[in-house]
Amino acid sequence: MLKRFDKLFGIDLGTSNTVIYEKGKGVVLSEPSVVAVNQETGELLAVGAEAQAMIGRAPGYVDITYPLTNGVIANFDMTKNMLQHFIKKIQGRSSFLRSSQVYISVPCGITNVQKRAVEETIIHKGAQKAVAVEEPLAAALGAGLPIGEPIGHLVLDIGGGTCQVAVLSLGGIVASHTVNRAGMSIDRDIMEYVKKQYNLEIGERSSEEIKMRIGTANASAQEKTIEIRGRDVIEGLPRSIRISSGEIYKLVDDFFKSLIEAIRTTLEKCPPELAGDVIEQGILLCGGGALLEGLDERIRTETGIPVHIAERPLDCTAIGAGMMLGVRSAKQGLAWRAAADGPDEAVEAG
Ligand SMILES: Nc1ncnc2c1ncn2[C@@H]1O[C@H](COP(=O)(O)OP(=O)(O)OP(=O)(O)O)[C@@H](O)[C@H]1O
Ligand SMILES: [Mg+2]
Repeated sequence: MLKRFDKLFGIDLGTSNTVIYEKGKGVVLSEPSVVAVNQETGELLAVGAEAQAMIGRAPGYVDITYPLTNGVIANFDMTKNMLQHFIKKIQGRSSFLRSSQVYISVPCGITNVQKRAVEETIIHKGAQKAVAVEEPLAAALGAGLPIGEPIGHLVLDIGGGTCQVAVLSLGGIVASHTVNRAGMSIDRDIMEYVKKQYNLEIGERSSEEIKMRIGTANASAQEKTIEIRGRDVIEGLPRSIRISSGEIYKLVDDFFKSLIEAIRTTLEKCPPELAGDVIEQGILLCGGGALLEGLDERIRTETGIPVHIAERPLDCTAIGAGMMLGVRSAKQGLAWRAAADGPDEAVEAG
């Protein structure tokens, strides 16, 4: 049956990054989910890493946007343009997914209408078949968890637009909780803090750099500092400041508390047997936020549950979505069927 499809893709269409996995090749694309458009003519100027490099440096007529918000498509036209560009990049010539089957991840808890809209977007790009799969399930599979077995696993995916906590068993999501604060909102908080505290305007890439280089979830971590350049709000001139990890810690501490709370809430919602499994199996951390210094240790200390960081936290969702393609064994089949709400619900090109 799979012979009908020339190519098989797993796509993680994330708020911050789009990752594409091609069966037989591995991860073939990983780029920021960003689009730069000429506001006056509507012309597409740049996509992905190229568009991201323009942030804070482009003239006024250039509109740079993230087509997804909190994991869901906010601007369909831009998303289609972005995907078209990425597809062309990986295929070298055609910008269409002809004769291909695509499994694409979506945040858990979104409506069937939203799921269908994502599948339609992929079909619009020429795919023969598109199946939306829930992100924590794909991430867990891509990170190597045996999600088809009757054992509870807890996944905490810390992305750019959402944090999702999910308890999985028998290939399905038993309980979940979504926090609509994640990497990108931390960046915005850092920007606001620097503006208020130091009268300095910095760009979102600088604030992301602050987070990645000195952000920590550990209150007693050794103090680190970073020099950051921006524009003085009053004078309008460039100026540098030195900011410390202690300041950033205070800013994001509430966020870490909300993650611990989300883990508790999710465990409370699931049957005691599965909660018991999670305590034994541990928590899987994935998404770019899993790389925040000291976060694994903090979750371990505050919940008493072992924590493991996925080997490829930024890629595991696309890899897992790709692994669901062409799965044949009954056990694994159960996993992807549950993820996709059954193959019958997949959208196929007519
Ligand atoms: N080393 C790091 N330390 C802290 N944060 C990081 C690090 N590396 C990446 N990130 C953050 O991870 C986020 C992106 O993660 P990811 O690619 O998993 O998100 P996404 O899948 O695009 O978003 P979502 O799942 O919410 O739709 C960004 O906010 C980025 O700043
Ligand atoms: Mg994600």
